[in-house]
Order: sequence, then C-alpha cells, then structure tokens
Amino acid sequence: MKNEASQEGTAASGAEPFGALAVRRIRAAARDAVVLLEQLLAAALAARPELLAHPVTSLTAGPAARGSRPGWTRWSHAARPGRWIPVGVSRGCETIICVTAPTKESPFLRACRRQPVPHTPVWFMRQAGRSLPEYRAARKKRKSMLAACMTPDLVTELTLQPLRRYHVDAAILFSDIVVPLRAVGVDVDIKPGIGPVIGKPVRREADLARLRALEPSAVSYLVPAISSLVAELGSTPLIGFAGGPFTLASYLVEGGPSKNQERTKALMYGDPRLWHALLTRLTDITIAFLQVQVSAGASAVQLFDSWVGTLSPEDYRAAVLPHSKRVFEALAGTGVPRLHFGVGTGELLGLMSEAGADVVGVDWRVSLDEAVRRVEIGTALQGNLDPAVLLAPWDVVRQRARDVLSRGRAAEGHIFNLGHGVLPETDPDTLARLADFVHEESARG
Ligand code: CP3
Repeated sequence: MKNEASQEGTAASGAEPFGALAVRRIRAAARDAVVLLEQLLAAALAARPELLAHPVTSLTAGPAARGSRPGWTRWSHAARPGRWIPVGVSRGCETIICVTAPTKESPFLRACRRQPVPHTPVWFMRQAGRSLPEYRAARKKRKSMLAACMTPDLVTELTLQPLRRYHVDAAILFSDIVVPLRAVGVDVDIKPGIGPVIGKPVRREADLARLRALEPSAVSYLVPAISSLVAELGSTPLIGFAGGPFTLASYLVEGGPSKNQERTKALMYGDPRLWHALLTRLTDITIAFLQVQVSAGASAVQLFDSWVGTLSPEDYRAAVLPHSKRVFEALAGTGVPRLHFGVGTGELLGLMSEAGADVVGVDWRVSLDEAVRRVEIGTALQGNLDPAVLLAPWDVVRQRARDVLSRGRAAEGHIFNLGHGVLPETDPDTLARLADFVHEESARG
C-alpha cells in the first residue's frame, strides 16, 4: 500500500518525487512574486524618478534591505552628470535604491537581479592576464604586478584587453585581492608563478597593529582608472572585487600560498578571539576597498573567498560567515549586485547565500541544477565550466558548455562563467568562440 502510494506520487509528477515538486513550485511562485514586485517598482520609479532622491521604505529595496546600516555617507549622483551612479544610503531602516543608468538593463545585471534576459550573460574569471599575448607584452615592459595594479592607465588597458577579443557581458577591474593589504602598509608582493607573498606573516596579537584601516586616499589611483573604464565601457558593467576574509587571512597567516592552510586553521581553531579580531580588521579593509570601487562607478562587486572551501560548514558558519555577512550588509545600501565565489565550496553554497550574496559562484564540482537546491531562494548562480575543459577539442567544449547552460536553466538567474579562473595556457580563440556560443545557444527569441 505504502509502495503504491509513493509510486502514484512519483508518477503524478513525472520522474520527480512529490516533495521536490512542491518545493520547486513554491520557489517558482516566490520568484514570480519577486519579479513582479521589481517590475512594479521599476514602473513606479519611471513615473516618479524624484523618489530616488528620497528614502523609500525597505520593502522596495529587496535583499538590500537586509543590510540597512545607519550612519552611512550620502553619495551624490549629481556629481556625475549624464550618468546615474550609486546613491546607496541607509538611514535607520530606510534604504535608497541605486541606479547605474547605462548598464542597468544589461543582461549581466538583469541576470544578477533574476530578471528575464535576451541571452545568458557570460564573462570569465581571470579573463585578463597571462593567457593573453597582449597582456604578456604590456606587462613585460613594465613594473611588478602590484605596481601595475596601481597605475591607472595600465589598469584601464589591462581591464579592456579581454573585451576587445571576447563578446563578454562584463568587465572585471584589473587588480588583485592583496592590493588593499599593500594599501594599508602590509609588506606583500606578488611573485610571478607563485602568487602573493608576505614579508612578515600575521600570527600574534601584536601583528594586528600592522593592519590599520584603509583610507580611501590610499587607493585613490582606482578612481581615475574606474572613471575612464566606465566611460569606455558604456553599457557593459564593470565588476569590482575584493578577497574574502578567510582567503585574505590565509595569505597573511601562512605568509604565502598554501595547499592545506595549516597555520591558518591552527589559529582559527586555537585562538578564536585573535581569529575574529583579525577577520574584523580584514572585513573593515574589504568594505572600504569595495566602497571606493562602487562609488567610483563599479556596477557590481564580487567577493572572492577562493580558499574557504577547505572548511566544513560548521566551521564556516562560526569562523567566516559573520564577517562575509558584514561585507554584504555594508554594500547592501549601494544596490549593486553582490557576487560571492570560492573554489570547492559545494558544501558551503547555502551558507554563502545566507551571508547575503545576490549571486553565488559555483565551481565545476557541483552541477548548477544541484546548486539551485543548495542556495537560498532569491539567489542567482554563476558558473561553472571546468577551466581545464577549454584545453580539450572544441567539440568537447561545446558539449560541456551546452550542458552547463541547460542545467543553469534551473536557476532563478544564471551567469555563465568558468568554475575558476582562466588557466594561463588557454587559447584565447577558444574563449572567444565560447562567449559567442553561450550567446547563440541561449538566445531567447
Ligand atoms: O581578469 C581578472 O579576473 C582580473 C584580475 C584578477 C587578478 N587577480 C589579476 C592577477 C583577479 C580577479 C584576481 C583575484 C585573485 N588574486 C584571487 C581570487 C581569484 C582566484 O583566482 O581564486 C586570488 C586568490 C589572487 C591571489 C593571486 N594573485 C594569485 C593566486 C596569483 C597567481 C599567481 C601565479 O602567478 O600563478 C596572483 C597574481 C595575479 N593576479 C596575476 C594576475 C593577472 C598574474 C600576475 C602575473 O602577470 O604574473
């Protein structure tokens, strides 16, 4: 009898069990309600643009409302004639909506907001960099990696290089996750073929004093770079970024790249008070760094907690989540989409959306249709082609990319990307072909 009943339930819903079907229907209804609310809001703002100059209730701010933090500096859009820039402000529980005009309806930002798109947007993590001959040529002549990140003309050029080759839907600022650490005076360098290396690692209470607050003036070179990028890019959004708290801590504590993060974990497990003090300082630095990028014109931000996948969900919840959450909350009032990514984070995807990300990046280990079940309702997904697939023949790339697109249809919003950064040995022509394929394959009439 029990068996018959369960068979009936399964038959009624095709292959899907009844419980899963119910969850899907609830998710779909919630998604439709959010989209409807957003459309109503857009219509209201179109009719009454002056609303933008006044606080509106947190109801209209959607996920941004989660992070309303009192006491923010008011940002002006009047300072940038001809272009709406973020006017994120929160006053008590009230939040102002932010609009970034030319990019606002771009497929990338629409997908982040889980709105319908003409095609699935695509960009590639580490799209700028050593896979491009023009990057290698530009870097050969000049400076260390960190010096390059601090030279506005070079930042602009290196950010734009991939966009001249690929029809990608977003640019990512040419910088590095350790740039804000250098800006506060940490003796960090980026060694070719190795990555960030720290002269004096941070391991004791006394070392914290070296992590002072980030003054916006210490990264002022970003402002001309981002301004000229925004002008060049027109309707293509610029993604700003920062390193996540665990990943930054791991470079500082280990003194450089590490496979197993032993010293970092020893500190995290052994001295939670010092750990949280360290992550609190890093979080303050990260917030200030991202705020500079957004106020200069970045249309979205991505928090790369690349190495956090080394933690269990319980440890992530206790040791990292409160800090990532604070980053996302601090950015909520700006209204720009907040993306979050880490390698090997299959078991953490739910917690990463709980931290407040609007979009969660997925590596290739978990399929997107499974990732949908792991993140909170109201979360878009980004990913997740294995970057190593790009080294296989084109037919394989095409077949794998098609599979990613079809699984991505289960998500409330999908941005096509790789499951981690472009490998240096990747043929740029394959990436160019892939971006076009994603657009053609996903075009919605
Ligand atoms: O195109 C882009 O994505 C923007 C540029 C970008 C760089 N670093 C430039 C870079 C971005 C988004 C980053 C983020 C970054 N940096 C992360 C998070 C993303 C990820 O890959 O997980 C991390 C962990 C770092 C730290 C870091 N910096 C590493 C591991 C390396 C590579 C070391 C190596 O040489 O193999 C760097 C150096 C770096 N950052 C390069 C580039 C283009 C290579 C520098 C060079 O030209 O030698």
